[in-house]
Amino acid sequence: MNKIKKTLFSEQTVTIDDNSLIMAIESSCDETACAIVKGGRDVIANVVASQIKIHEGYGGVIPEIAAREHLEAINIVIDETFKQAGVNGKDISAFAGTVGPGLVGCLLVGLNAAKTLALAYDKPFIGVNHLNAHLAANFIDTNLEPPFIALLVSGGHTQIINVDSYSDIGIIGETIDDAVGEAYDKVARLIGLPYPGGPKLDKLAQEGNPYAYKLPQAKVGGYDFSFSGLKTAVLRLVKSFDGKELPVKDICASFQECVSETLLKKVKAALKETGYKQVVLAGGVAANSEIRKKIFNLKNEGYDVYAPIMKYCTDNAAMVASSAFFFNNTFDNINVEVFSRA
Ligand code: KG4
Ligand code: ZN
Repeated sequence: MNKIKKTLFSEQTVTIDDNSLIMAIESSCDETACAIVKGGRDVIANVVASQIKIHEGYGGVIPEIAAREHLEAINIVIDETFKQAGVNGKDISAFAGTVGPGLVGCLLVGLNAAKTLALAYDKPFIGVNHLNAHLAANFIDTNLEPPFIALLVSGGHTQIINVDSYSDIGIIGETIDDAVGEAYDKVARLIGLPYPGGPKLDKLAQEGNPYAYKLPQAKVGGYDFSFSGLKTAVLRLVKSFDGKELPVKDICASFQECVSETLLKKVKAALKETGYKQVVLAGGVAANSEIRKKIFNLKNEGYDVYAPIMKYCTDNAAMVASSAFFFNNTFDNINVEVFSRA
């Protein structure tokens, strides 16, 4: 798969092929990340500086603090990436950066760093959509090619995506209220778990009875989702204990069962309708044990199933480089501006 790009100053033609190195930067939320990926699939270096410890005390990400932390970390993370890869800017074929969706102040730091590197080394610049990048995490170390159905589940998004080709990506369903990760974090908070609650809730759920409480699966048309009713149902359940000790593990397991069943049903319907034989899981919540298990069980029904390894599920820059390499609907214009919502 070759792409032809132009360098920024001298306007020379650059062919991006399987031997090309793309350096990418990701800073859309609370991870400052930089990576170098060869041919879209082979990660040469991958550096992530997480701010989770800083935001933990506030119970969520504080945008201004996050942006300042990105500024502190960005040069160190870039230097470390070059060092790990044993290359310098001249060896890079193109520089890529996340354009959005994300926190505007945060995105600005990484995007401007990526643009600056492209200008300084006179290389092409490729802007990347963060959601495409989560999908592209599935190209790393695999032979995956479109067409496929993707289930993208993160802190901000819950979508079923039809990837017909590298240039034809259509969202066929999404949440009409809370995202899955958001629902996890809110329910975790309800039962007293610290931020970010998703992974902690997942852990407790594995020790509980998933059938202890019957929680409602929202009835939404097509491939859309709704999780705000479920969150309210958990709140009501918690209140019903009236201050007595909560059966936390059973509540977690019942919530996790309800969410994962809801997601699985819609994915199955999308596979049936399109006739596609490949399904991929993407986004931070793709790290969830039960959602992974249920989607991987589709192998027994004859589907090929892909999910990134854990470190490529949560925000990282290797997936951004891979997206820049494979997907065509990128913003490869040096004047591209950051945006907060898809
Ligand atoms: O994709 P991501 O790193 O950031 C966004 O772009 O949103 O996803 C972060 C979200 C958080 O809501 C976090 O609680 C959730 O992913 N998450 C999980 C798990 N690991 C991360 N939720 C449920 N189970 C997990 N194991
Ligand atoms: Zn993300």
